[in-house]
Amino acid sequence: MLDPRVVVVTGASSGIGRATALAFARRGDRLVLSSRSPEALGRIADECRALGAVVRVEPVDINDAAAVRALSDTAATVFGRVDVWVNTAAVMAYGTFEELPAEVFDQVVRTDLLGGATVARVALARFRAQGAGVLVLGGSLLSVATAPYMSAYITSKWGLRGLARTLQQETRDAPDIHVCLVDPGGVDTPIYRTAANYTGRIGRPPPPVDRPEKVANAIVKLAERPRRARSVGLANRFVRLGFATMPPVYDVLVGPLMRLGGLSRDPVDANTGNVFAPLAAIEDTAARWGRHWLRPAGAAAAILAATAAAGVVARRRPR
Ligand SMILES: NC(=O)c1ccc[n+]([C@@H]2O[C@H](COP(=O)([O-])OP(=O)(O)OC[C@H]3O[C@@H](n4cnc5c(N)ncnc54)[C@H](OP(=O)(O)O)[C@@H]3O)[C@@H](O)[C@H]2O)c1
Repeated sequence: MLDPRVVVVTGASSGIGRATALAFARRGDRLVLSSRSPEALGRIADECRALGAVVRVEPVDINDAAAVRALSDTAATVFGRVDVWVNTAAVMAYGTFEELPAEVFDQVVRTDLLGGATVARVALARFRAQGAGVLVLGGSLLSVATAPYMSAYITSKWGLRGLARTLQQETRDAPDIHVCLVDPGGVDTPIYRTAANYTGRIGRPPPPVDRPEKVANAIVKLAERPRRARSVGLANRFVRLGFATMPPVYDVLVGPLMRLGGLSRDPVDANTGNVFAPLAAIEDTAARWGRHWLRPAGAAAAILAATAAAGVVARRRPR
């Protein structure tokens, strides 16, 4: 048993947040678990308690600033302090910017960017009062690259990266306060099925697909040894490099690759998913995309894309 800490996880009822709660529970930490859905939170809390963790469940919508402040107060009252705050709460919407209803776009940005900022504001106030604390914000590979059909999510993630970087600069006066960003690639979680969708096809994580436990372990490591940012995903480096160094090639390839690897063949009617309210019945169930073959397929796709890009660049270079 390691030194037990007090860990708040917003977005704990599903996917990466759920795996993170379990990882901290295994470590012996005391947990405050939060998301909008009390039913799903109850299920993950029971799993954490079965591992011996002391758990408090607090259903909160991160778009409600007063409720997020109350969450922080409850954590401090019940457990005395907050050592780590992980925010993995997020929603997603598929569809071109022009197809996406404005209210869906706005709510995704409200939740993923402004909700993340609310959590950061409340967590930092708590850390300042204590003189220490680690905030881990859920970023994405799409905090540093872009792809079609995900404009609201990408707008939010780029904004969150800017916010994280700014907060890192603004907390330089407090050496024991840390702000970290974790940037996963494709991860096998329910977010793809619970996302709002206007493309006609259910989204899926682009290969290579990681298990949420891998990201959770990276988050636990960040809490122990804070870093500005941590990328999780085999193909992240290639995508980042292609996006930053070969924009014209990247823009030619990303649309077809997105339709091939980022959208499934399963049809879906236009719907708002869990953007406005939780879909507790499916959000914490086992995700369905993590097939073993996706790893080699993803690696092969990354290599093919890199080779094609290198070929195009070589052809364009003056002799
Ligand atoms: N899965 C991937 O491939 C992937 C890749 C890169 C980055 N990420 C990032 O990793 C993080 C976790 O994603 P995930 O895939 O684990 O998603 P997920 O399985 O859908 O989990 C999202 C969590 O956020 C909660 N949530 C949504 N809206 C909320 C709100 N307004 N207030 C409070 N909680 C809210 C959900 O619970 P309720 O519905 O009960 O509120 C759920 O617990 C996100 O930041 C995501 O952008 C994921």
